[in-house]
Amino acid sequence: MSENGIDRRKLLTAGVALGGAALAGRASAAEGDPAILEVKPWNQYLGPGVEAAPYGVPSPYESHVVRRDVAWLTASTESSVNFTPIHELDGIITPNGLCFERHHAGVAEIDPAEHRLMINGLVETPLVFTMADLMRFPRENRIYFLECAANSGMEWRGAQLNGCQYTHGMLHCVMYTGVKLSTLLEEAGLRSSAAWVLPEGADASLMTRSVPLEKAVDDCLVAFRMNGEALRPEQGYPLRLVVPGWEGNMWVKWLRRLEVGDKPWQQREETSKYTDLLANGKARRFTWVMDVKSVITSPSPQKPVGHGPGPMVISGIAWSGNGRVTRVDVSIDGGRNWRSARIDGPSLSKALHRFYLDIDWDGSELFLQSRAMDEAGVVQPTKDVLRAARGDNSIYHNNGIQTWHIKSDGSAENVEIS
Ligand code: MTE
Ligand code: CO
Repeated sequence: MSENGIDRRKLLTAGVALGGAALAGRASAAEGDPAILEVKPWNQYLGPGVEAAPYGVPSPYESHVVRRDVAWLTASTESSVNFTPIHELDGIITPNGLCFERHHAGVAEIDPAEHRLMINGLVETPLVFTMADLMRFPRENRIYFLECAANSGMEWRGAQLNGCQYTHGMLHCVMYTGVKLSTLLEEAGLRSSAAWVLPEGADASLMTRSVPLEKAVDDCLVAFRMNGEALRPEQGYPLRLVVPGWEGNMWVKWLRRLEVGDKPWQQREETSKYTDLLANGKARRFTWVMDVKSVITSPSPQKPVGHGPGPMVISGIAWSGNGRVTRVDVSIDGGRNWRSARIDGPSLSKALHRFYLDIDWDGSELFLQSRAMDEAGVVQPTKDVLRAARGDNSIYHNNGIQTWHIKSDGSAENVEIS
């Protein structure tokens, strides 16, 4: 006992405990945890051998990390979409098995030995390539995001779907390996009147879109690999067109033909679809570039805060069809105040960017928003700004700022503050 009645030893222990508490935001004291003290099955028995999984799959404890669809969105699963679980991912690369799928006539199951790519139209020599032929051209590796123009389309008139998988998950980002489209067009030889290219898919939807020649010879790829391995059937095996930064619909899968022409073809997907009806009754057309956009992936409705007050990692993704993302700001109070987030990992043109804001959460409710800026100086708009410019009829190209309402209990909800 000291002179003022305080036990010095107790005070010391309290001090240690307090010091512990400061740290305890992120870890607990190394005492009494059964996960450490008890012998686990995996300590005692031999595990599966190297022959058990010739093609590996994730741990069964990760079985909730899957693509999901929204049954009421479409009439059939063949002409439908599922969504990338972006709330469960980190970094910038989407694992192949989790890339969202958008098909108009289901997955074409193609035997590569019987697949051909034809180039015809305004070329000197119409050509047909086998897959083996394509393997003899110089190739490139590039990381690009693909976003469906309809991503976030359900959110145009207000908050709808409760989770970023559904609001922002028509998005993936992988490394493609392929031959430059310009290389193949040069092989065929362009006629002087050539101005447009029409890629065509081999699936039952015969997907076709008009691509201006300028873009075709700039950075488009005819790709056969994603993240090092062959394209997945869902993503266009054995061949797909990569149209960096432009709407996903133009990235024709199961690519079987490239027609060269002197004007756009006015296909279904560039007339009745993938156009935006404005307030004045006119329609925006040929809106190819995917605008600068971002979303906080954690915490979010499907990824609530799993801890109490103290250190919290806010994480999200940002991307732009104009090039690199140069800056992402995060607000925790619905857009009143903004802080610059930390972009971590590669910052590549027309690829996803990963950002973080590490905060000390006081346990009160938050209104989380993120706002990206790209190298063209374009800033992600609020949804009100978007609607003022484009009216209420749109579906496509919604790059408005998303808000998640984080409650004190850590749960989260999709709301709109514009
Ligand atoms: N290509 C073909 N041949 N058939 C299709 O249905 N869907 C398009 C595009 N290319 C489609 C296609 C649409 S709308 C999008 S958003 C992307 O493919 C989706 O690519 P993913 O399935 O790899 O995510
Ligand atoms: Co699409």
